[in-house]
Amino acid sequence: MSDNKVILNYDGKNFEYPIVDSTIGDRGIDISKLRDQTGLITLDLGYKNTGATISEITYLDGDKGELFYRGYPIEQIAEKSNFTEVMYLLLHGELPSTEQFSSFENNIKKYNFVADELKKLIDVFPRSAHPMGVLSSLTSALTAFNPKAVDVKSKEELDLAAELMIAKFSHLCAWTYRKTQGLPINHGDNSLNYVENFYKMAFRLPYEEFEIDPVVVEALDKLLILHADHEQNCSTSTVRMVGSAHTGLFASISAGVSALWGPLHGGANQAVIEMLEMIEKDGGDVSKYVAKAKDKEDSFRLMGFGHRVYKNFDPRAKIIKKAADDILGKLGIQDKALDIAMQLERVALEDDYFVERKLYPNVDFYSGIIYRALGIPTEMFTVMFALGRLPGWISQWKEMRLKGDPIGRPRQVYQGAEKRNYVDIASR
Ligand code: CMC
Repeated sequence: MSDNKVILNYDGKNFEYPIVDSTIGDRGIDISKLRDQTGLITLDLGYKNTGATISEITYLDGDKGELFYRGYPIEQIAEKSNFTEVMYLLLHGELPSTEQFSSFENNIKKYNFVADELKKLIDVFPRSAHPMGVLSSLTSALTAFNPKAVDVKSKEELDLAAELMIAKFSHLCAWTYRKTQGLPINHGDNSLNYVENFYKMAFRLPYEEFEIDPVVVEALDKLLILHADHEQNCSTSTVRMVGSAHTGLFASISAGVSALWGPLHGGANQAVIEMLEMIEKDGGDVSKYVAKAKDKEDSFRLMGFGHRVYKNFDPRAKIIKKAADDILGKLGIQDKALDIAMQLERVALEDDYFVERKLYPNVDFYSGIIYRALGIPTEMFTVMFALGRLPGWISQWKEMRLKGDPIGRPRQVYQGAEKRNYVDIASR
């Protein structure tokens, strides 16, 4: 290897592959000619070493525990910014001026409703349907109400698609919750900001005035900011992969919602609370569950621990842990599940198994605790994650289309049957 290329010696020959530079963090080996030149492909299950694209949106360093949105450290963003500004930053690359901020916010407000016909679709789901399944279907259905494919060469059309999606998606998130509760469907209130508006749409009861609790709104805003983007994670890669076939924005986002639902990804926040409740019901013996998580014969894992990229600590978890302490203090909440979470954190962080494997509490370990303290039902946690991740998905979709990335189409190493002749059913 020299500074700017890697030499592969294979079958008695040398092949050179250029190194692609980064501003910070991992550099990449450009192996686009590898198969043509050598007949070999790379095999990297779970894409642990594979860069799928070149991106300018989010940077994270798993060893240092750093996360930057467009270069700005998450700690500064979480302390000083707000979710609407973060959406703008991710989508447009720079922090907005006062005029840009108002124009962005006003544009979103212009689309602060969803076609009434969509309510009929919601009606066909049983109340017991998981909100993430409903959300994915409704997001897909939005395509029918906004059928025009986005012309990605037009900045106006791209901005419009993003603003439409941001406005409508908050309704769908709120509606999925109201469906599970049998509550009437609400439309938006343009006197409120984005987070307040979502909060009111989701939680307003039909028989009383709704009071916006600033503690809740502040907590929600912070949680949405912390989830807003996380470079090439599973759901974002799904959005990019689907979009790489030039599938529309709404359908690509719907696929992202489904990917996020999984308990190893966004579904972990729900799984954490369910796990804490299970431990509590079982007598609260934390060490029993730590032992189960370590037992290779047992499929149980400590939900909310570990991360594919963060092998030191998850910077979002640090911020959110403090927020969880503040919110529980402000709301005066005593929560048994929280006590168990704190015991679990202590035991696991001192245990060799977790220390050696660098398994630390991740963002979802604490986000569920905050949502629970705010009175948000467990099944809605992943929907809240989706609402937060939306600007990241849109920004990554937009970047992929603007850069003209080719359709995503991985290869495989085939280990199935060799060529053989078909046998008639009577002779088998
Ligand atoms: N509990 C017990 N053991 C674990 C856990 C856990 N939560 N996570 C990883 N391990 C062990 C795993 O068994 C393996 O052990 P060994 O080397 O002996 O085989 C080792 O740690 C490495 O695990 P891995 O599965 O190869 O790691 P990964 O990078 O493929 O998986 C992960 C990352 C997040 C899927 C995994 O840590 C996990 O399942 N965590 C629980 C689910 C969770 O909290 N997910 C939310 C992630 S943060 C939100 C988001 O961004 O989506």
